[in-house]
Amino acid sequence: MDKTTEKTRTIEHIITATETREGGGFIVHRPFPTSWIREFDPFLLLDEMGPVHYSPGEAVGAPDHPHRGFETVTYLLEGHMRHKDSRGHAGQLTPGDVQWMTAGSGVVHSEMPDAEFARVGGSAHGFQVWVNLPRKDKMIRPRYQELESAQIPVGTNAEGTASVRVIAGEALGIKAVTETRTPIYFLHFTLKPGARVVQSIPARYNAFAYVISGEGRFGPERKQATDHQMVIFENDADSVILENPAEARAPLNFLLLAGIPLNEPVVRYGPFVMNTEDEIRQAIADFQNGKMGAIDF
Ligand code: CO
Repeated sequence: MDKTTEKTRTIEHIITATETREGGGFIVHRPFPTSWIREFDPFLLLDEMGPVHYSPGEAVGAPDHPHRGFETVTYLLEGHMRHKDSRGHAGQLTPGDVQWMTAGSGVVHSEMPDAEFARVGGSAHGFQVWVNLPRKDKMIRPRYQELESAQIPVGTNAEGTASVRVIAGEALGIKAVTETRTPIYFLHFTLKPGARVVQSIPARYNAFAYVISGEGRFGPERKQATDHQMVIFENDADSVILENPAEARAPLNFLLLAGIPLNEPVVRYGPFVMNTEDEIRQAIADFQNGKMGAIDF
């Protein structure tokens, strides 16, 4: 089919993230959850961490806290973070790195600025996405997939005007190396002025874009969205149009996320996301009784 006449997804809404403070007090821009969008099935939360510039000694993070029943995906653009958890796992994130953590039955972890980064100060910017797990997978063993920046596959269009870092799913002929429990797209696009991409996203997937920098045009209506804005696509076609207008003076950077809705009950209590109130009570009890462990190294 000719791309110019192909039906593509229209835009349902464009919403602006609210600014809030999380964990030890770091600034996040959060498009959801809000009182209006409780979740975006199968995604439970999107936090843009910063962008913020820390003076020496100012950087903050999220000290020891538990998770159960979903996955946390951390994608760092600027800064230097270190994480540790109750399973004895420790690692770090530098710009461009991804940590895909399947919390499953439960971990206690900490997500803190690297000590030297905190001492010197600097810019911090990144994302954390919570991906829900289907009922059958909520109590699986915790798992990590850590991708250094250089391990993330990159696709480019024929004209060389668009590139994409394929963290999950497939784009511009390139497949991700990440394994997900349900099919997910997690793409970071960079479009030069004048670039236009038609990305395949089957209609059964819920899909949205979140602008990191620049000013894009989305959908056949060419709706405008800029940084801290989330573009929600209708489920009315099998592809989306993404464009940086020719008159733009800067590249357009955005995330494109999509997933097949689980259509299961979501009961959430802070860091626990289960299907029933009883399962939440069990999660709280298990955490309090030390069954998710503690960070002791
Ligand atoms: Co966490």
